[in-house]
Amino acid sequence: MEIIVKLEKESFSKDDIIRLLKSEGEEKNALFKKSGEVKEKYIGNKVWFRGLIEFSNICGKDCLYCGIRKGNKNLKRYNLSDDEILAAAKFAFDNNYGSVALQSGEIESPAFTKRVIKLLNNIKELSDGKLGITLSVGEQEPEVYNEWFDAGAHRYLLRVESTNRELYSKIHPNNKKHDFQRRLDCLKSLQDIGYQTGTGVMVGLPFQTLEDLAGDLLFMQDFNIDMCGMGPYIEHADTPLIINADKLLPLKERFDLTLKMIAVLRIMMKDINIVAATALQAIDPIGREKAVKIGANILMPNITPGKYRDSYKLYDNKPCTDNSAEDCQSCLEARVSLADAEVIYSEWGDSQHYEKRRYKRSC
Ligand code: 5AD
Ligand code: FES
Repeated sequence: MEIIVKLEKESFSKDDIIRLLKSEGEEKNALFKKSGEVKEKYIGNKVWFRGLIEFSNICGKDCLYCGIRKGNKNLKRYNLSDDEILAAAKFAFDNNYGSVALQSGEIESPAFTKRVIKLLNNIKELSDGKLGITLSVGEQEPEVYNEWFDAGAHRYLLRVESTNRELYSKIHPNNKKHDFQRRLDCLKSLQDIGYQTGTGVMVGLPFQTLEDLAGDLLFMQDFNIDMCGMGPYIEHADTPLIINADKLLPLKERFDLTLKMIAVLRIMMKDINIVAATALQAIDPIGREKAVKIGANILMPNITPGKYRDSYKLYDNKPCTDNSAEDCQSCLEARVSLADAEVIYSEWGDSQHYEKRRYKRSC
């Protein structure tokens, strides 16, 4: 089969990737089999948890797809207290999660910078330095990234959303606050500072082509990312992009395409960390488990206090919004074993790619 020949290649061209993203039936099975084998060989059948704390839905930006955009007035805004955030981190630590991920809407201000530094210090303190910390709080100045790195954050997730400039400008307002070049500059600073650097895209956006998606994967490879989080785009009724709802692939196809993106990326970048995004579960009840089987190795159980979860709705039908942190943990653990994988507790589960990249640089 032509696809098998492609799968055995050392590196993929854009056309190869498009071909793989088009695979169906037997060919798709061959792709998933291969990506599952690569994961098993390089990572093992393992999954690491990052306890996700969505600590505020207040956002200074207006991305056209995002439910917590500044312009959405149909949303109750919240900001967890420091005590609530630290209690969630303590829950993660007591339950032997290796890491937490702090995520919020995007705010750039000295007060926000200071607050995050304090939280990082406190989380390190309450866990005796043992909890790993991923930050995902958007575009910031290099000095700010530096200060947070020094305070103990060691991974940063900043999705590029799409690497096609033209598409980027169709899904963001065209102003200085939503500038594609700044997104790239931020990713570069994160990498230069020494963060394990993660990015990702939404799959199935209006106007997005398979060529765009292939370009996204090649960008990730060229940029030498350490981590990736990719999920299907899911429309949100209170966002401007909803007017393009008629241009979208059916949800099931967006889901399938996301799995193929994860599988191809796993084959291209064998030792990076790949998140099984929550948005997959909004489409398929066992969507995240399917992603784990074919290549993902990171899950982010939501440990945000239950009463706030409903308000961190990036897209419609977001799952797990009425659960407690305990519910998410036992549910996810059962699900991971369904995918024949094992949750590894009390370990950071750092990106092997990062370790090797750093080692190479110091030699
Ligand atoms: N559908 C899917 N993912 C979304 N995100 C934001 N809005 C949506 C949506 N409507 C993703 C973006 C962002 C991450 C936090 O959530 O990729 O980077
Ligand atoms: Fe908040 Fe885009 S709407 S970062």
